[in-house]
Amino acid sequence: MRSFSGRDILSLKDFERREFLRVFEVADELAPIAHNRKNVDLLKEKTLVTAFYQPSTRTRLAHESAMLRLGGKVTGFADATVTRAGDFYQESIKDTFKMLEHYGDVIVTRHFQKGAPHEAAKWVSVPVINGGDGWGEHPTQILTDLYTILKEKGTIDGLNWVAVGDMRMRTMHSLGHALTQFDCPLTLISPEDMSLPDEYREDFKAGSLDFTEGDDVREVIADADVILVEPVVQPDYTKSRDERKGEVPQTPPEFKITKELLETKAKSDAVLLHSLPRMDEIPPDVDHTRWSRYWEEGFNGVVMRMALIALVLGAKE
Ligand code: CP
Repeated sequence: MRSFSGRDILSLKDFERREFLRVFEVADELAPIAHNRKNVDLLKEKTLVTAFYQPSTRTRLAHESAMLRLGGKVTGFADATVTRAGDFYQESIKDTFKMLEHYGDVIVTRHFQKGAPHEAAKWVSVPVINGGDGWGEHPTQILTDLYTILKEKGTIDGLNWVAVGDMRMRTMHSLGHALTQFDCPLTLISPEDMSLPDEYREDFKAGSLDFTEGDDVREVIADADVILVEPVVQPDYTKSRDERKGEVPQTPPEFKITKELLETKAKSDAVLLHSLPRMDEIPPDVDHTRWSRYWEEGFNGVVMRMALIALVLGAKE
């Protein structure tokens, strides 16, 4: 297995099975710190830089919380309009990150342009973590989802996944890449105009992923062990910010997980994941059913980022 020390986490396409399992082992080891709401001094000499060019609640704050739990420091920006990248100068990724590498020891970034974190990583000597890039990937979210399934089911292999939502969405691409390393058939359910881009279809085939595509979750939910949901009513992820305008459409029933659908058609022990934020694709009355695990994902997201940061900074091998 390659060392994580000094490594960029840009995509799950290049992650090997053993590497997923190592991240989850370290997450288990560090979880008691977060469970006990303690901060330790494992990374007391290190600083995390957050460079977010798109809004985020979970990804930025989970990385920051993870660093603080491990005793590190945090600096950065949550809105590029307060930087020279967001004003008259439109400062380039290269020029910005050539500075950021001196402000800390690991950088997590979110950007509206696909490939921006990869471009950033070319110019810096510290590890870069992709916190979501346009319609590209969202590796730390899917690491969180897989870790959640491991905790809830005791295994990842052998489970049948159904993913519902916009297949242009970055989480879906990281999910497909990740599941190439596990024995998990995957069914992708989306509106036709939000179907999987050819680039990822080819990648998944090349990775021997057992996947099919459909357009109605009601037809496939009965076989699912894991149901992963994303919105089909959502902003344009290629923009730095997309404000809500006018009337917001409702999610069609083909892409909606209701309590009634779960009660009448889902397996009794299926696990329902949603990375959040949501629109109406999972109504609030599903929250306190036995299927939902999205609040658990919130905790696991901190623990998993603790593991990842500790690994890329060489505090864990
Ligand atoms: N799941 C997720 O990426 O959430 P944020 O957009 O709030 O970071």
